[in-house]
Amino acid sequence: MTDSINNTPHPPTAGGLPIDVVIMAAGKGTRMKSRLPKVLHRLAGRALLAHVMGTAARLNARSVTVITGHGATEVEAAVAHWDCATGQSILNFVRQEPQLGTGHAVQQAVPVLPDDGIALVLNGDVPLIAEGTLRDLIDDCAGRHLALLTVDMPDPAGYGRIVRGEGGGAGVQAIVEHKDATLAQRALTEIYTGVLAVPNVQLKTWLARLRNDNVQGEFYLTDIVEFAVADGATVQARCIADRVQVDGVNSPVQLAELERAFQRRNALQLMAQGVRLADPARLDVRGTLTCAQDVDIDVNCVFEGQVDLGEGVRIGANCVIANARIAAGAVIHPFTHIDGEKLGVQVGEGALIGPFARLRPGANLGAEVHIGNFVEVKNSTLAKGAKANHLAYLGDATVGERVNYGAGSITANYDGANKHRTVIEDDVHVGSNCVLVAPITIGQGGTVGAGSTLTKSTPAGALSIERAKQLQLTNWARPQKVSQKKVD
Ligand code: UD1
Ligand code: CA
Repeated sequence: MTDSINNTPHPPTAGGLPIDVVIMAAGKGTRMKSRLPKVLHRLAGRALLAHVMGTAARLNARSVTVITGHGATEVEAAVAHWDCATGQSILNFVRQEPQLGTGHAVQQAVPVLPDDGIALVLNGDVPLIAEGTLRDLIDDCAGRHLALLTVDMPDPAGYGRIVRGEGGGAGVQAIVEHKDATLAQRALTEIYTGVLAVPNVQLKTWLARLRNDNVQGEFYLTDIVEFAVADGATVQARCIADRVQVDGVNSPVQLAELERAFQRRNALQLMAQGVRLADPARLDVRGTLTCAQDVDIDVNCVFEGQVDLGEGVRIGANCVIANARIAAGAVIHPFTHIDGEKLGVQVGEGALIGPFARLRPGANLGAEVHIGNFVEVKNSTLAKGAKANHLAYLGDATVGERVNYGAGSITANYDGANKHRTVIEDDVHVGSNCVLVAPITIGQGGTVGAGSTLTKSTPAGALSIERAKQLQLTNWARPQKVSQKKVD
């Protein structure tokens, strides 16, 4: 399957060589104990694999090849239509069935790898690898060398060890897998991260020489290091200090730890731009949050999709806000839920929302609108200064300027088959506990008496009331409790 990741042409890399990214994503992820393939588990709201593919796209790779195996159909379907803002890459999927090791995995990509260019091998379950690190590794490769990304790990058990020649900083001789390593080799703390860059031509010749005569009976990609050394090629090892970039996800605990690491970095970046976070440890951004100057965000807020906060916006504690634009000076009080989904939500300048408000897709609120507790707004436009302060529903409504919409009032927008619009013109006052049965228009400046169910449009300036006349029974005697006294 081939798909174009997006539309802008890819500029050549620094050395003029195209980059072909190969992402290994065939493994089972047994320790996740999940039906979902591991690389589809989410970090910061996106699949692990989508993070890696996004980074690949930012490198302007010529191609991105994803090696799938376990849950292949599901993985391919999940990312086939994935797009990214920059770059252009051809997206290939190749299957690895059965999974006979990392070398065997990359062998499956050989048919789609041209001879020119640099192969950059990544792991689908290592989501936070940074673009800059990969660019450095590609520079190390320079179209001639085998470049390995390594990290120093105090507890290196389980990883492939970087074995160097005699005398400390000497050249890399091999990567020895933990299970194949001698005791002396197991004492080495520099480990291979699973990321390498290598010229395609050399990769292909070395892959063809892989054997599985090791403890695990697997084809190890890491064996290409020995072939490179034997062929007199230079092997570069770039040891980075930042472990988070190369940490893989194998278990729910590791996933949660990486999520926190990601969120902390994101929070620090926001604060560096001047955003005031009550507590950087209690913020979750699952998408893109942009903030103008002097934004305040209290604890336990979750932002999803694309959220834009204007100058001076304040977000109270425990708000969940997705796909929304909040204009300057607006205040979102605690426990407010805003979800714009595809239509989006707009909150105007100086608006006051919540506490306990719910804004749904297509809520479009003008300047200085007030939406109070337990008010739900869906697919409705509220003009400047309109207010719905308590316990109300506005669905498929067009609400004029300065309208006051009373407590407990609702628009009955659904007749069981179709949705209809309610129009409430400027300066209308809707009393408490009214039902406006759509389609209906309440004329400008009109008043709707409390407790009315209106089914007909009303003229401008009118008072409309629909309710039984009040009755008074004077000197009415309340029922008395029947005496329980026993009669002898
Ligand atoms: C591999 C490296 C090891 C390194 C470690 C870093 C080899 C032989 N060893 O270890 O040196 O320290 O990564 O994490 O390469 N995969 C497939 N098909 C397979 C096997 C694996 O696609 O047949 C994928 C997995 O889904 C995963 C990645 O390759 O994304 C790494 O596999 P994993 O089993 O975690 O790594 P090791 O082989 O143990
Ligand atoms: Ca009534």
